Amino acid sequence: MGTSEAVLPSLSTAVPHLSHSKPCLNSLNSMLHLKSGINSRRKRALGYMRLLNCSRMLRNCRRVYSIQGIDGFSHGKTKISRLESVSCKGQQAESVSGITAEDGHGTIIAPKIKEFEMVEPMRHEKGGFASNGKFAAGGTINDTLGKASIDSIEDEAWNLLRESIVFYCGYPIGTIAANDPSNSSSLNYDQVFIRDFIPSGIAFLLKGEYDIVRSFILHTLQLQSWEKTMDCHSPGQGLMPASFKVRTVPLDGDDSATEDVLDPDFGEAAIGRVAPVDSGLWWIILLRAYGKCSGDLSVQERFDVQTGIKMILKLCLADGFDMFPTLLVTDGSCMIDRRMGIHGHPLEIQALFYSALLCAREMLAPEDGSSALIRALNNRVVALSFHIREYYWIDMRKLNEIYRYKTEEYSYDAVNKFNIYPDQIPPWLVEWMPSKGGYLIGNLQPAHMDFRFFSLGNLWSIVSSLATTDQSHAMLDLIEAKWSELVADMPFKICYPAFEGQEWRITTGSDPKNTPWSYHNGGSWPTLLWQLTVACIKMNRPEIAEKAVKIAEKRISRDKWPEYYDTKQGRFIGKQARLFQTWSIAGYLVSKLLLANPDAANILVNREDSDLVSAFSSMLSANPRRKRDWKGLKQKFIV
Ligand code: GLC
Repeated sequence: MGTSEAVLPSLSTAVPHLSHSKPCLNSLNSMLHLKSGINSRRKRALGYMRLLNCSRMLRNCRRVYSIQGIDGFSHGKTKISRLESVSCKGQQAESVSGITAEDGHGTIIAPKIKEFEMVEPMRHEKGGFASNGKFAAGGTINDTLGKASIDSIEDEAWNLLRESIVFYCGYPIGTIAANDPSNSSSLNYDQVFIRDFIPSGIAFLLKGEYDIVRSFILHTLQLQSWEKTMDCHSPGQGLMPASFKVRTVPLDGDDSATEDVLDPDFGEAAIGRVAPVDSGLWWIILLRAYGKCSGDLSVQERFDVQTGIKMILKLCLADGFDMFPTLLVTDGSCMIDRRMGIHGHPLEIQALFYSALLCAREMLAPEDGSSALIRALNNRVVALSFHIREYYWIDMRKLNEIYRYKTEEYSYDAVNKFNIYPDQIPPWLVEWMPSKGGYLIGNLQPAHMDFRFFSLGNLWSIVSSLATTDQSHAMLDLIEAKWSELVADMPFKICYPAFEGQEWRITTGSDPKNTPWSYHNGGSWPTLLWQLTVACIKMNRPEIAEKAVKIAEKRISRDKWPEYYDTKQGRFIGKQARLFQTWSIAGYLVSKLLLANPDAANILVNREDSDLVSAFSSMLSANPRRKRDWKGLKQKFIV
């Protein structure tokens, strides 16, 4: 395939057009010499992407300057831009990153336009969501379910997963959150959620279908911190949206034509209006998995992708008022995206943060400009893992220690550092804690330990090696010991136990969706099967996941792949659960694929630095009254 070269006017001429889409489009039209000979449909799609890319390009130019400031990038006369260009050859919009260089006359030379062929099978002949977000031909769910050809749950799941694919300009870009024909109000379940797409993406990767994942990664990158505001306030640079929707809108100046646009939601439309802190972290984790699975490292090496990684890291590593190395977030900033008392330093965010830091470290290209960022990253990895392993860990021994804590200790070497009053130990925990096993608590704040067991945080602490090997085994021991509560009739409880009565009223704000043992408040979420599977495989205990998958298989297809189950035992389909929830389907598929090929779990697993292993084991086994120091570390981490 050939390439096109484009000559851009200088930034100073381009930027004044920022607020006017038409001049912007016009200016971009004149900027790019694009291939001709495309059919009218292709031309329309191209027009769209130009519009999107035009505004993105200008915004990105502006963003890049602040990156230079933070990072100390210095490229002399060279300007960095995440320039997205389009080639409709093959009808695929491909964004291209690059360094735009001045030619000495104030003109910026754009990088070459990259082109690639799409693999044809992913087009929506197989059925799925067309560019307007509507379900397209290729068979409806009912047809699919009724088909005699479906001879196994797995086949059915694959059909449903393919039917959930969302198309943008004719090409797959993600999967819809739920495709429930029985529910007339779609709310935002007709969108592509970043976190929901992760198991879909992993399933496609494990099946060797890489294009949809690459397309998802690159398109969501374009949406990163798009100018969305709430009450005149914009989210921080680097924030990835919670979800996006493909909208079909009339083409500017042409009533008879329409175009596709990507409309991201950073939480400003979401119930609760919370920024999704987990989105960017999952994006980094998926990016690494894509490279490891496909062997195609060119995506992570791209300049715009490297910039995207750095922007996420900078947002997470930015200094604030916090004294702890854990990431400080508001309530509902992750999978549990409603008020559930998980503000502060919830475990799930910390586990994803740690994992994303390690994944990013593997992918960041060594260059002078990133040395400060990598130093900050290394420091945070050490401090974060020490903090979580030491202060979030709980088992019988630790519980007994807390039970006997002295309080009001003023000193640098206090044992009860966070001034936890022993009365906080909830009565349920005294009974519940098994003699063999332990877990990481849900949250730690001054004078407060949230003792609830949160599944995703614990499972991902195993996967990412945030927990030590001993702790990881102990968590699986606890899962086995508490099987009848955590798995029961449907894997896997999102958290245990549920808030009830006055506690529920105060903590959830009397949320009728989060009533005890429902939804986020102790509901059972089949999607968690895949994280459980990765964790079990990593610890060489796949039989635990196999057992859970067998339990799910008894009902999940018959129940039409619900989003979640209610009651203590997970016996009922959730009160307001969607059916045909994509991540329930994809989570099941990922579990099956990984159990059949356990080595593939390595695309998600982070292995620990050997230096840290020895340093931490000596620290953790030390007398708690001993003053903490870092002498055990061979390597010094200096900010
Ligand atoms: C609910 C879940 C959230 C998920 C979304 C789409 O809001 O809490 O984690 O991403 O639905 O499935």
